[in-house]
Amino acid sequence: MTILAIETSCDETSAAVVRDGRVLAGVVSSQIRLHAEYGGVVPELAAREHLKNLLPVARTALQETGVDPGRLDAVAATQGPGLPTALLIGFKAAQAVAFALRKPFVGVHHHEAHLYSPWIVRSGDALVAEFTAFQPNVSLIVSGGHTLLVLVESELKHRALGSTMDDAAGECFDKTGKMIGLAYPAGPEIDRLAEQGNPKAFDFPRPLLHDAGDDFSFSGLKTSVRYFLRDNPKLLDDPEKIRDLCASIQAAIVEVLVAKTIRAAKRNGVSCVTASGGVTCNRSLRRELERACRREGFLLRLAENELCTDNAAMIGILAERKLLHKMPATYLDAEIQPGWVLA
Ligand code: KG4
Ligand code: ZN
Repeated sequence: MTILAIETSCDETSAAVVRDGRVLAGVVSSQIRLHAEYGGVVPELAAREHLKNLLPVARTALQETGVDPGRLDAVAATQGPGLPTALLIGFKAAQAVAFALRKPFVGVHHHEAHLYSPWIVRSGDALVAEFTAFQPNVSLIVSGGHTLLVLVESELKHRALGSTMDDAAGECFDKTGKMIGLAYPAGPEIDRLAEQGNPKAFDFPRPLLHDAGDDFSFSGLKTSVRYFLRDNPKLLDDPEKIRDLCASIQAAIVEVLVAKTIRAAKRNGVSCVTASGGVTCNRSLRRELERACRREGFLLRLAENELCTDNAAMIGILAERKLLHKMPATYLDAEIQPGWVLA
């Protein structure tokens, strides 16, 4: 089965061609530089960029694979959640293609696609889905907009355990980074600076670390960094102290994410943990999850870096699984679901 998939939920315009569990082509056009000027994603600008980039990106994906659009078996797109105007562009374009080709259309939940991205692995030049290796797992989705823990009981069967009550983990990286004077998005820069800093230099709160539930909260940590900098403004004149500060903030975020993920896995009786979303690129998070899973005897599957951030490959892979499992296609007059909550 050959599928064209499109993702435009936030600030990445992406198209992928997927066939029989293989990603034949995945093209991502990131708008990060455009939004950096404004210190965050500007929805109106994001939508305009998607409009400009979607056709070239989709054409490139099709050309790279030599797949004639007439030979596609289905078309898929992210239906939600995301920025309404951004979602609209990719979703409506994909429905139009499905209509013109008279092929099934699949609207995909963006987070459900993230759940399966850790099962897509690089094998030589190709990205291939390894569903034969699937195990029930607890999946951590951490991005700029979301922080979620989900129990994935079997393929295509999941139950949301908890999410953030305020800021997402990526947002916490970005906003505290901004206070330090780092450009948006600050996550990757904090990661880089933290590698040479002392994570124990400053003690920041670990919100909800000892709470029995699976929800997260990061706004208190952000506020505590703000007060700390208000009381210690000179600290930002010293590059070594900035590295220590980055390492200390990162340590607080990572400790909460890892501890709560492992606890959720134990409580739900699974021995596999997966993680995806932009923050999963963070080296300390990857290392600490590895260490914790080794200690517990859990299998850990981290999404490949290129699949951590938003991409259409994961949308296409999930859409194909849904069609193979005979799940119903999505109506061509279905609407986007910007606030779609993963159940
Ligand atoms: O998944 P993503 O590309 O977009 C959505 O938010 O949907 O995630 C972007 C987020 C940003 O907050 C960014 O700062 C964070 O992921 N991020 C990182 C790293 N790379 C990206 N945070 C910490 N360390 C990183 N290496
Ligand atoms: Zn995402």
